[in-house]
Amino acid sequence: MRLLGDSISRVFLTGGSGFIGSHICDKLLAQGYEVTAYDNFSNGRREFTAGHLSNPNFKLVEADCLDLPTVTKEMAGHDLVWHMAANTDLIGSHAQPARDLNDCVVATFNVVEAMRQNKIKPILFASSGAVYGQLCLENHVNETAGPLSPMSTYAAGKIGSEAFISCYCHLYGLHGWMFRFGNVLGSRVTHGVIFDFIKRLRENPKELMILGDGTQKKNYFLTEECIGGMAWSFVNIPMNDECPCDVFNLGTTTVTRVTEIARIVVEELGLTGKTEIKIQGTKRAWLGDQPKVHFTVEKINKFGWYCKHSSDEAVRTAVRRVLGKEQG
Ligand SMILES: NC(=O)c1ccc[n+]([C@@H]2O[C@H](COP(=O)([O-])OP(=O)(O)OC[C@H]3O[C@@H](n4cnc5c(N)ncnc54)[C@H](O)[C@@H]3O)[C@@H](O)[C@H]2O)c1
Repeated sequence: MRLLGDSISRVFLTGGSGFIGSHICDKLLAQGYEVTAYDNFSNGRREFTAGHLSNPNFKLVEADCLDLPTVTKEMAGHDLVWHMAANTDLIGSHAQPARDLNDCVVATFNVVEAMRQNKIKPILFASSGAVYGQLCLENHVNETAGPLSPMSTYAAGKIGSEAFISCYCHLYGLHGWMFRFGNVLGSRVTHGVIFDFIKRLRENPKELMILGDGTQKKNYFLTEECIGGMAWSFVNIPMNDECPCDVFNLGTTTVTRVTEIARIVVEELGLTGKTEIKIQGTKRAWLGDQPKVHFTVEKINKFGWYCKHSSDEAVRTAVRRVLGKEQG
């Protein structure tokens, strides 16, 4: 069975040269889909999709989702929109709050407006568990949790995007699958805790400072599980005019503490006993950080999709992939 089934041939993928987006390109092209990767390279990397440039089924468009005429023109003729583009600089986002308004909310508005003009129905959207804010610090929340009061401009951007996708589904006949992810890990990761720890340990193997108070616990899962879960939902959870869109938590219910991630990274780098792991001691790792992200995935489990690996397994595998010890 192909990832998106046989009703889809041409996929318009925003953020297609980013970390997760480039893995989506690999998987879709390997199964014979045609893919247009639309990316402004604010955080994408050319080398992630360079290997596909000679593939006639692949088209790379270097352009911005904020450019509505271009996104509308380039989207024409596609069967499905997979919307991954967003500002993902979580640590820096509070210093440039307009980035989340633009690259998330306005970009998403333009994407659904371009879909309306091009009469394209299905959209898969990468939202985030960050939308739950304080609600998921202690309790494991499901998709009905609310009221949502975001703790970061990033989370506010995702809530605004979900809102525009939902209303375009109800007003203009789009069908939307929106996924509130845990933390996604794998090769090519360009941000986040594993990337940061490895980078800093390469600069100074003697010491690793953990930001925050060291009690942070989040759920981690691998790129292939994230991509597989989104595609599986599109194929197996049909939308219709009565229920044109839905939101799903996606990931694992297990969590990994930041100190355990540090231990695994140090071990996989062969630095056990050589690196002193220190804890900064501040309440939050950065302004807008959400130290604990706990959610349930019972809704998608009931439909029949399960994450195969625990959060700890995903962390270990991802570290090994980033270090080139494993493929994937
Ligand atoms: N990585 C995670 O753990 C995680 C968790 C939850 C949600 N998400 C969401 O998944 C999506 C992909 O994340 P990622 O980790 O691959 O990040 P990423 O930064 O690697 O990918 C985002 C891509 O979007 C592009 N982009 C940003 N703004 C754009 C714009 N205005 N127009 C065109 N392209 C633009 C960037 O250049 C980049 O290539 C994002 O929406 C992110 O919020 C990721």
